[in-house]
Amino acid sequence: MVSTPSAYPIIDHDYDVIVVGAGGAGLRATFGMVQQGLKTACITKVFPTRSHTVAAQGGIGAALGNMAEDNWVWHMYDTVKGSDWLGDQDAIEYMCREAIPAVYELEHAGVPFSRTPDGKIYQRPFGGHMRNFGEAPVQRACAAADSTGHAILHTLYQQSLKYNAEFFVEYFAIDLLMDGEGCRGVVALDMATGTLHRFRAHQTVLATGGYGRAYFSCTSAHTCTGDGSGMVARAGLPLQDMEFVQFHPTGVYGAGVLITEGARGEGGYLTNSEGDRFMERYAPTAKDLASRDVVSRAMTMEIREGRGVGPEKDHIMLHLEHLGGEVLYQLLPGITETAKVFAGVDATKAPIPVLPTVHYNMGGVPTNYMAEAIDPKPGKPENVLPGLMAVGEAACVSVHGANRLGTNSLLDLVVFGRAAALRAKDIIKPGTPHRPLPKDSADRALATLDRARNANGSMTTAMIRKNMQRAMQNDAAVFRTSKTLKQGAEKMDQVAQSLKDLKVSDRSLIFNTDLIEALELYNLIPCALATIVGGEARHESRGAHAHEDYPNRDDQNWMKHTLAYVDDKQKVRLDYRPVHTYTLTNEVKYIPPKARVY
Ligand code: FUM
Repeated sequence: MVSTPSAYPIIDHDYDVIVVGAGGAGLRATFGMVQQGLKTACITKVFPTRSHTVAAQGGIGAALGNMAEDNWVWHMYDTVKGSDWLGDQDAIEYMCREAIPAVYELEHAGVPFSRTPDGKIYQRPFGGHMRNFGEAPVQRACAAADSTGHAILHTLYQQSLKYNAEFFVEYFAIDLLMDGEGCRGVVALDMATGTLHRFRAHQTVLATGGYGRAYFSCTSAHTCTGDGSGMVARAGLPLQDMEFVQFHPTGVYGAGVLITEGARGEGGYLTNSEGDRFMERYAPTAKDLASRDVVSRAMTMEIREGRGVGPEKDHIMLHLEHLGGEVLYQLLPGITETAKVFAGVDATKAPIPVLPTVHYNMGGVPTNYMAEAIDPKPGKPENVLPGLMAVGEAACVSVHGANRLGTNSLLDLVVFGRAAALRAKDIIKPGTPHRPLPKDSADRALATLDRARNANGSMTTAMIRKNMQRAMQNDAAVFRTSKTLKQGAEKMDQVAQSLKDLKVSDRSLIFNTDLIEALELYNLIPCALATIVGGEARHESRGAHAHEDYPNRDDQNWMKHTLAYVDDKQKVRLDYRPVHTYTLTNEVKYIPPKARVY
């Protein structure tokens, strides 16, 4: 134990690898690292099986072809097209190829997938997943009823225990340890005891999930506060493509809780106040199974044009009642209960009121397909930052580009969690001694902690957070305009500056939720700023970024990734880097068509 300038005693730990976060990506990376003989610890602010992966419902995408012919190349095409041509094709190729062994690996590890009558993994249709380059929907989502994330998360945790991975549970990572060369670990607070811990590692893997809680209404858990992105921003590193925020078409109206797209996969459909199945007009081929950005925009258009349902004409109806109780109880039991609890609806008898709800962040820490963090330098857009990796929703690899296809999130977690472990094996010799840390290595973390703990202004965390959530919900929504984005950027600047007036009432260190929520707010704010400033600058419409003043995709000027640097004064600087239009094998490569076809 050593004493630090600010008099917090710090407990030191040395590992080959530290993984921050214990959702699907963090756990797959953790036991993968241990399998490679690397001394690994996983630090997590919640107990692993409470991580947000538990909420993923409808399935994990892989072209197994169990229900009808399928091909990973079609899956790749759908993912590139779904990304609205912003996805990196080398990473997408890697993910779609690896999907098939990844799902069989999960099956062998014990994931209780639903089964076909002949015992194969059951697969259902999902938005944007098509056969033969867009011909017709294909059944590609490997499902464990409608609790696929739950099943995968528990299995991955069991595997981690089997491999004796070490866990530091309810430890909140505050900041990265950096030196002149790269990342050297993290400083974390043990929430139960209030002790501070310095974890030194040759690789630090951020698997901290998304930042849905920057918005007022989202399907994300309250823990989805962009902790990895916040730490990255404070270390002076970029966040990528943050303006692309996915709205899931079917959050329960008023509650935001997810109703899986698998419900439409099983034959559910949407109607407006006139009973019209409007998706037939917006996406004649894919209809209700068009990709999420398309469906969310169509729903919003119906509401705007006065065809919303209810006294306020402000929502849409999802019909499942025609599917019958047997299908609902067998294949969609979770959402049947959700409908009852959160909408008071018996889904076997009546439609469920739904509304597009923030669901997923396509942006995050830029990485290559081996999960290594990218810190672009002039003339070197692919420059790797030594010692730092990111996986899952925290990362922007970028396999989802401007819009993620449903089921590709669970896939991303396991494929790139494993990829991180494979890469770490290549670059770390187990047990390599650590070079000395700079004397001030923990200072940033201690300053962050001190600032929150002693904040003595007049605004509570809840007040500032609500201002942020309102600004984001209103001004960085499904449809955006130059006016709303400018107004939102100004409001977010004021919100960020109001952090100086933050008040934390509880000054203790032991299980201080007031303090933890303030630290989470410090992480959410740079994410929100990068989202709205990046959105304001992007003068085109692409994927989830639907800009009404620039309704077309503009590949000539905007087929590029946004990099957002958020400084200590909460000011954002933007830069850009090229999209990878090349693949790993050059077996396949997709060129964007001039017009969008759905
Ligand atoms: O609709 C869903 O079940 C969500 C799946 C996903 O986001 O991949």
